[in-house]
Amino acid sequence: MQKKQNICITVIGSINMDLVGTTNQLPRAGETLSGTSFKMSPGGKGANQAVGLSRLGANVDLVGKIGGDIFGKELILNLRQNNVNVEHIETSTNTESGVALILLDINKENYILVIPGSNGTCDKVQIEAATKAMLNSKCLLMQFEIPPSISFAAAEIARSLGITTILDPSPCINFDYSDLESVDIITPNQHEAEFYTGIRVIDKESASKAAKVLKNKGVPTVIITLGSEGAFYSTVNSSGLINGNKINVVDTVGAGDAFNAGLAVAISKESTLEEAIKYAVACGNLAVTKSGSQNAMPYKNDVSYFINNTL
Ligand code: RIB
Repeated sequence: MQKKQNICITVIGSINMDLVGTTNQLPRAGETLSGTSFKMSPGGKGANQAVGLSRLGANVDLVGKIGGDIFGKELILNLRQNNVNVEHIETSTNTESGVALILLDINKENYILVIPGSNGTCDKVQIEAATKAMLNSKCLLMQFEIPPSISFAAAEIARSLGITTILDPSPCINFDYSDLESVDIITPNQHEAEFYTGIRVIDKESASKAAKVLKNKGVPTVIITLGSEGAFYSTVNSSGLINGNKINVVDTVGAGDAFNAGLAVAISKESTLEEAIKYAVACGNLAVTKSGSQNAMPYKNDVSYFINNTL
């Protein structure tokens, strides 16, 4: 793999094969319906973020686990083609690769069922791998598609190394909030913010209330993504709304992952938080204009063009 002279970022997280069906109507219990199309494409929140980071010009180490099956081979191939360092990805001998069954409806809303497979078997091997990978990193990205104890153990090590930790708390799970002590930035979407705080996030005011609850749980910087409305942020001494942009939505599946990748790259380059969120919002916006997850992650030049010519 050709190393770029650039910032290094570590991602610990899931690697899935996405099986995506589109339909005009969602089936009800016991009902069989015909859909309109099917596509198989590489996904998983960890792997999506890794590809997103690489396309934005970062050197990326992805720490995770695939199955020793045909999906695992395809997933590694796609990561390599996207210049993601795969030396810290373990192949399971007895568990299948993670799979996401995704339905996209006529309004471009997505319904995702993840079967964790090998992602769910991440253990101390991944903590050790992350420790090695993080030695050169500026930032650690985590999500909740591998056991949270493993991500939080990596976050504690990141803390001791002085590395910024960003948690995308997706999908919604129950976990021990005291673990948030090692998290610098948390990036829930509206649904996740409601799950973790009990506050229905529908606008700036409700986002501000939810952010306050999350800050009280121990995270100094909360960024709640609001889909096409942009993102609300709240830190120890500032808060605000960064507006989204009008775009033609094709597929919303990888938007959150593109947002986190953009945020991590901009923060690692020491942009201000506001600038970093603007960049992240642009990445999320661009991701929804294409179908697929990893396929839809925007490239650095496209983000620059979008920011300079569209905003
Ligand atoms: O964030 C999108 C991802 O969620 C999909 O790629 C799917 O694999 C699920 O993990």
